[in-house]
Amino acid sequence: MARTALVTGGSRGIGAAISKALKAKGYNVAATYAGNDEAAAKFTEETGIQTYKWNAADYEASKAGIEKVEADLGPLDVIVANAGITRDAPFHKMTPQQWQEVIDTNLTGVFNTVHPAWPGMRERKFGRVIVISSINGQKGQFGQVNYAATKAGDLGIVKSLAQEGARFNITANAICPGYIGTDMVMAVPEKVREAIIGQIPVGRLGEPEEIARCVAFLADDEAGFITGSTISANGGQFFV
Ligand code: CAA
Repeated sequence: MARTALVTGGSRGIGAAISKALKAKGYNVAATYAGNDEAAAKFTEETGIQTYKWNAADYEASKAGIEKVEADLGPLDVIVANAGITRDAPFHKMTPQQWQEVIDTNLTGVFNTVHPAWPGMRERKFGRVIVISSINGQKGQFGQVNYAATKAGDLGIVKSLAQEGARFNITANAICPGYIGTDMVMAVPEKVREAIIGQIPVGRLGEPEEIARCVAFLADDEAGFITGSTISANGGQFFV
């Protein structure tokens, strides 16, 4: 029987590529989004992938949303915690609100997405948890104290979940994308972006599909021996 996958932030950017790649592999896919109804409707129309609206930063909304997805599509086998935001500012200008919004979505959002589905995965003795972290959680980034903290936190989450999930055949892994050609990266001022591209040895931004292929690899039933790992896909910009 087809496995069921949830992709948060799954209707745009890297998330959309992940949703499509999993669908192409035969998964039943649910893609969540937080705000952009128009983009989500267009995505469903183009791909046939069902979208669900909730805010990953809200635990009760996530729990209720996951219950609905499971009622519609079946128990979740694969969770891709991809939803993320930036509120970039140098630390001396960063407001408590910019700090909190990023923590709530990018870090607490991972807890909110995995926690409601975890007991079911334990009972069924199968699960794949894949968290989309970032190169900037590995190396830090000027202007991203908040974001880098959450993305480094993701690595702690998967390494701990890997230990707790192992005897239930649940794996937990992170992917650290480098700079990928999405709206998030295109929002960086052009001059700064050009300077960043200059630091990428392959000489270009990554493509969302290049991250989606990493997800499909980790989600596979045959990837059961890979857990607590981090895949870096950054064009050679940073080696751990
Ligand atoms: N390293 C060292 N110094 C830097 C710097 C850097 N990377 N960037 C800026 N500065 C310096 C500036 O030159 C400036 O110096 P002076 O005061 O001497 O002129 C000083 O820092 C302050 O800069 P600004 O006045 O330009 O500061 P600002 O308030 O306009 O904010 C910023 C700047 C928002 C941080 C901007 O530089 C920026 O957007 N940087 C990019 C951050 C980034 O890489 N974000 C990634 C987004 S994509 C993503 O997050 C996806 C992913 O996972 C990879």
